[in-house]
Amino acid sequence: MGADIIDGKGFAARVRAEVAGHVARLKSDHDITPGLAVVLVGADPASEVYVRNKGIQTREAGMNSHEHRLPSDTPEADLLALIAQLNADPGVHGILVQLPLPAHMDAEAVINAIDPAKDVDGFHILNVGLLGTGQKAMVPCTPLGCLMMLRDRLGDLSGLNAVVVGRSNIVGKPMAQLLLRESCTVTVAHSRTRDLAAVCRGADILVAAVGRPRMIPGDWVKPGATVIDVGISRIADGDRTRLVGDVDFDSALPVAGAITPVPGGVGPMTIACLLANTLTACCRANG
Ligand code: GUN
Repeated sequence: MGADIIDGKGFAARVRAEVAGHVARLKSDHDITPGLAVVLVGADPASEVYVRNKGIQTREAGMNSHEHRLPSDTPEADLLALIAQLNADPGVHGILVQLPLPAHMDAEAVINAIDPAKDVDGFHILNVGLLGTGQKAMVPCTPLGCLMMLRDRLGDLSGLNAVVVGRSNIVGKPMAQLLLRESCTVTVAHSRTRDLAAVCRGADILVAAVGRPRMIPGDWVKPGATVIDVGISRIADGDRTRLVGDVDFDSALPVAGAITPVPGGVGPMTIACLLANTLTACCRANG
């Protein structure tokens, strides 16, 4: 028997429709339209695609999308001045500075210049601290999307063994915090973890977020486990290329209880959660 394939694309479409419904009511009842500002510095092709998709989906949800594109040699002071302007703009409820930033910029200083109430990425140090101490925070979009899929699939997560492979600030660490908040027993594994295979085999919930194509084979997966694959890598496939995750999908499929595909799993949930966070920021700003 094979695993259920978790339909992130369909789930994300439902989340976006729900957000759009709330946005329509905010407009009709209170004459308020949530606004999301996205700042892109430079012309990284992958970032261009993300930013374009964010703009399209923001407008489709009925929100205002403000895009700011700056050349790659923009002085950091100019970016900080733009952030200050967006912080002060009452029509902007969410601010996202697309990462990575050019090497001459201090990404931490830039992120921490964003008003924490408008930090829809949840990367500001205040939001990181609020999440880590179990307080009301802006939660990073990718781990939030993963949690929504896990809750939808498993209901109560309490007492389950969760293994997060990867310790990035964007996914691994906030994912671990969210799972801990759900009363999971959480292990964060990484490149220095000894016997990663054995650690993964203990996971009822396995979240893979390392960015190494198909590094987790099916025999590292506990039978019946729920597998969330955050990785997305482009690999050569004959004379073409294709996208794969951190988990070897074909060998994990017969073992897992449920698994997210790549593409069409976690990816679409990230932008859906960004829209949900923007709506939340707008509602909090307006009492
Ligand atoms: N670059 C890749 N993923 C992300 C993300 O979630 N937020 C931002 N700001 N930049 C990214």
